[in-house]
Amino acid sequence: MKKTDKQLLVIFGASGDLTVRKLIPAIFNLYKEGHLPKKFAVLGTSRSDLTDEQFRNKVVYESDFLKKEIAAHDKSFIDDFANRLFYEDLGGSYEGPYTGLKSRIDSLNDEFGLKDNVIFYLSTPPKIYELIAKNLSDQGYGKNGSKGWSRLIVEKPFGYSLETAKALNKGIQQYFEEPQIYRIDHYLGKETVQNLLVTRFSNSIFEPLWNRNYIHHVEITNAESVGVGSRGGYYDKSGALRDMFQNHLMQIVSLVAMEPPIDSNPESIRDEKVKALKSIRHLNEETFYSNTTRGQYLASTINGKEVKGYREEEGVAEGSMTETYAAIKFFIDNWRWEGVPFYVRTAKCMPTKVTEVVIHFKPTHHRLFQGTNSDNQLIIRVQPDEGVLMKFGVKVPGQGFKVENANLDFYYTDLVDTYVMEAYERLLLDAMQGDATLYARADEVEAAWAFVDPILEEWKTNREKMHGYPAGTWGPQFADNLIEGKNCWRNPGPNLADSEDYCEL
Ligand code: BG6
Repeated sequence: MKKTDKQLLVIFGASGDLTVRKLIPAIFNLYKEGHLPKKFAVLGTSRSDLTDEQFRNKVVYESDFLKKEIAAHDKSFIDDFANRLFYEDLGGSYEGPYTGLKSRIDSLNDEFGLKDNVIFYLSTPPKIYELIAKNLSDQGYGKNGSKGWSRLIVEKPFGYSLETAKALNKGIQQYFEEPQIYRIDHYLGKETVQNLLVTRFSNSIFEPLWNRNYIHHVEITNAESVGVGSRGGYYDKSGALRDMFQNHLMQIVSLVAMEPPIDSNPESIRDEKVKALKSIRHLNEETFYSNTTRGQYLASTINGKEVKGYREEEGVAEGSMTETYAAIKFFIDNWRWEGVPFYVRTAKCMPTKVTEVVIHFKPTHHRLFQGTNSDNQLIIRVQPDEGVLMKFGVKVPGQGFKVENANLDFYYTDLVDTYVMEAYERLLLDAMQGDATLYARADEVEAAWAFVDPILEEWKTNREKMHGYPAGTWGPQFADNLIEGKNCWRNPGPNLADSEDYCEL
């Protein structure tokens, strides 16, 4: 167990949705599971004018996200948690100076004996990250900090393009050193995403096969059954590529593709991830259209219920050209992956919610048993039904040699006694302990943008290539063209071990 120092967590944008929906429930679980240090407090701040009591009511007592916990525990247990939460408003503006905030931090520091250790969590629009970092630096935190330690956690989106991501990195790094900056990507907090490292580097049966000699292609699907809901305004300026692909999916790609790190130190792991991301061959004029598909969901009826099309959603501009579906094929130019296609797709309004990584192995060199199905796949189910599934051929009982795929299936829920932390819980605890392994480093973010940026530019200028797909379907058929030969996307059925499509290699 790593040590968790005494500390204060200051949340910027604390009156917003993320605080009540994710951050406070995550901190509550850490409290419940005994992971918080005895000396710990949370200070919420934003432009809104709230008292400590109003803040506690909003994020604890009246929160839909803690309802069950409140019902399940004694009032004194809940009160003890709520009494560690405080609020200080910024006088209606983030402009600063943060003198009032600083005095409140100092007084909490004295009251709780927190040794001047502070984490600042920025859950505000990214355009003010640099401003906040500067104001904090003026108050003696970050590079200028003399007492205790200070860390800065920043939420996504981290930049809007390569250029803006670079500017943001440079801006924040003026005031905080890179090791003090924690760029959050909640996919890295998922157990199953971390398990990619363990599957690959703690099993002698997989790593020898994890290369171009044995792997035919890699497929990564992130499907959500919901549409943009009330987030149309934000999403319309973002789109699937920025919202999911540049960050969450590129992180998964880097873990699937990286070389073994020299040890388990954060920097060793992140060094290898960056190398993998930098080795991705960028698309160019010749490959943009054969290797990418974008789409938008159209109105449709799902289980008798009418579902709006993307352009009808609230906050979405008329005639919007923002993609809700993106599928990209690419190659990684290094010794391990030369010639192995990666197919990665993400979308809203799909038939089901699923995120999975499918390693499709090459068929046996000499097919002894002709005309039979044996398609070796290793499927890492990131969510839901978290687990790992191996598909391999077995003899169908009876005469002759008919082969069929069988499943070796592991579910995380089978580990009954293990408490699986929710992503934000794990990530917050890591930052509290100063472990940045599961946070994105500046060069990782930039390498991911360097691949995605030209695609966005191309899509911006060539408006005609937008494919509609009825909500509740597996996306535009055009995406099938990405995969040579037969339609090869694995579209998991309701029982996620099965798929609607079979791929003949
Ligand atoms: C967020 C995106 O980062 O991830 C959302 O902004 C998306 O659009 C969400 O719905 C998906 O997260 P998860 O953990 O439910 O897969």
